[in-house]
Amino acid sequence: MPTTKILSVNKQDLKQAAQLICDGKLVAFPTETVYGLGANALDKEAVAKIFVAKGRPQDNPLIVHLHNSEQVNELVQEVPETAKKLMNIFWPGPLTLVLKKKDIIPLNVSAGLPTVALRMPNHPIALELLRTANVPIVAPSANISGRPSPTDAQHVYEDLQGKIEAIIDGGRCTIGIESTVVDLSEEVPCLLRKGKISKEELETIIGPIKEQHKSETPKAPGMKYKHYSPQATVIIVTKDSLKEEEQKYQDKKSILLTYNDDEEMARELFKDFRDADKKGYQIIFVKETTTKGFGEAIMDRLKKASNHGN
Ligand code: TXA
Ligand code: MG
Repeated sequence: MPTTKILSVNKQDLKQAAQLICDGKLVAFPTETVYGLGANALDKEAVAKIFVAKGRPQDNPLIVHLHNSEQVNELVQEVPETAKKLMNIFWPGPLTLVLKKKDIIPLNVSAGLPTVALRMPNHPIALELLRTANVPIVAPSANISGRPSPTDAQHVYEDLQGKIEAIIDGGRCTIGIESTVVDLSEEVPCLLRKGKISKEELETIIGPIKEQHKSETPKAPGMKYKHYSPQATVIIVTKDSLKEEEQKYQDKKSILLTYNDDEEMARELFKDFRDADKKGYQIIFVKETTTKGFGEAIMDRLKKASNHGN
């Protein structure tokens, strides 16, 4: 593999990126949530390269990205009313829908499952890349598996340089944590991953959504792995527990992360994890947020990073 090219967002560079995708190569690109590692979703050999580059477990399926809702009909067996409603309201946006797949979707995209996850990102560069390549693009977060998701091009470079063909540098991601994933392939919709769009918001549109019970095997296979982890140990603290925790670890090099609001926390958290590692901190204390709305999705990532998840 040649050295990884850094592309900018001008028309010519985006055309080059689209061509690389069509040639079966891997190109990382920005979305509003996190950076994605893109490959042609209909090319199983290109898809296979993603698992190698990321060190991703083979049983963890990928999200297919689209620029036009019409494309959905070519990829899934049926589009239920619930999906139509959610697509109308939340696409483009940080919402991924799981539906029954057609055979055109290679088996390594869905990791052998009969379903496929679909999302239309709300990011001008991602949409332009999808339009120009004119193929659906699979894109997991563009990090080495288990590491914090990348929220700028530099993070992708740190993890994947020399392993992928190119990175489109589109600056910082505005949301900072991955999309909400909801399974609509069965009778009752099921929330598989929390994100910026909350369960309550979705329920106002399509009615009751169930959540997976903690003891069940996660239906989104990705949710069972340790995730989002910096090298340092992450410890969640409250206003009351901070002093005690700091005392416990006083012989270690530690940093405390606090944020003004959930939006800022989501946007900065993964970057701050990576920065703390670069500065050699052994312990990262993070002040907890509420477990309501967006805060719930952030706490979910934080618990996984501190390995209290699942
Ligand atoms: O915001 C995002 O969703 C980002 C950007 C790049 O779009 N992508 C992302 O992809 O987070 P990834 O691969 O890191 O996470 C995909 C999640 C995993 O938990 C995976 O198990 C689940 O979606 N998933 C994918 N296809 C599925 C399917 N057919 N059934 C159930 N879960 C699925
Ligand atoms: Mg990921």
